[in-house]
Amino acid sequence: MAYANIAHESLGGETPAATKDQQRYTVRAVDPTGDSTHHDAMQIQTPYAQAVLRRYPESIAIAIARDAAGKHNPITLGWMMLTSHQPPMMAISVGLTRHSLGAIRHAKAFVISLPSVAMADDALFFGTKSGRDMDKIAARGTKTQPATLVDSVLFTDAVANFECTLESEMETGDHVIFAGRVVAAHVHQDPSLGRLYTLGKNYRMGGVTPMP
Ligand SMILES: Cc1cc2nc3c(=O)[nH]c(=O)nc-3n(C[C@H](O)[C@H](O)[C@H](O)COP(=O)(O)O)c2cc1C
Repeated sequence: MAYANIAHESLGGETPAATKDQQRYTVRAVDPTGDSTHHDAMQIQTPYAQAVLRRYPESIAIAIARDAAGKHNPITLGWMMLTSHQPPMMAISVGLTRHSLGAIRHAKAFVISLPSVAMADDALFFGTKSGRDMDKIAARGTKTQPATLVDSVLFTDAVANFECTLESEMETGDHVIFAGRVVAAHVHQDPSLGRLYTLGKNYRMGGVTPMP
């Protein structure tokens, strides 16, 4: 209401049609009546930790980097995104406490693998055990094949694998964002493979039906 008055006065009392429309929008945007039918009232302020749960299900990726001891270490990630078409680039966010952090910095390269539904148990294992304590790929017996341009491996049963060279990193709170340049990409020969998503609480994972 206050906004509408200011707009009206500044035009010397004469209000053109366009300004009346603006007034209507302005009044709605600052409606002080607290009317619960108002569309803004449909949002309830909530602690971040609760609101962010609405993000799920999220798709899962697995990054694989060779650590200083020479083993290929996979980490399950919900936080992965594409960041550029030309050149193709992808970014991942890795916690400061993860063994993978040092492995990626050491290797200056990593593979981003998009797991298939069949890899649900692998993804859970790679996301709950640390390469600090074991060789996760050997422990699971997960099928791999050599990457072509970086010193890493591809997951044979994944929907797709992207070989990345480390381009840059940025520390953001308790995670580090690694941006990688995609230097080679691979897809599974069966295009009908379902991709893996988290679907519920406690990292419950399951697939979604792939698009036709
Ligand atoms: C579904 C799922 C998603 C996860 N997303 C991330 C993530 O985006 N970033 C991260 O740093 N850790 C994430 N984690 C946790 C790591 O995968 C986990 O701490 C892992 O044991 C680290 O392995 P490492 O110590 O060998 O690097 C996720 C775990 C699961 C199960």
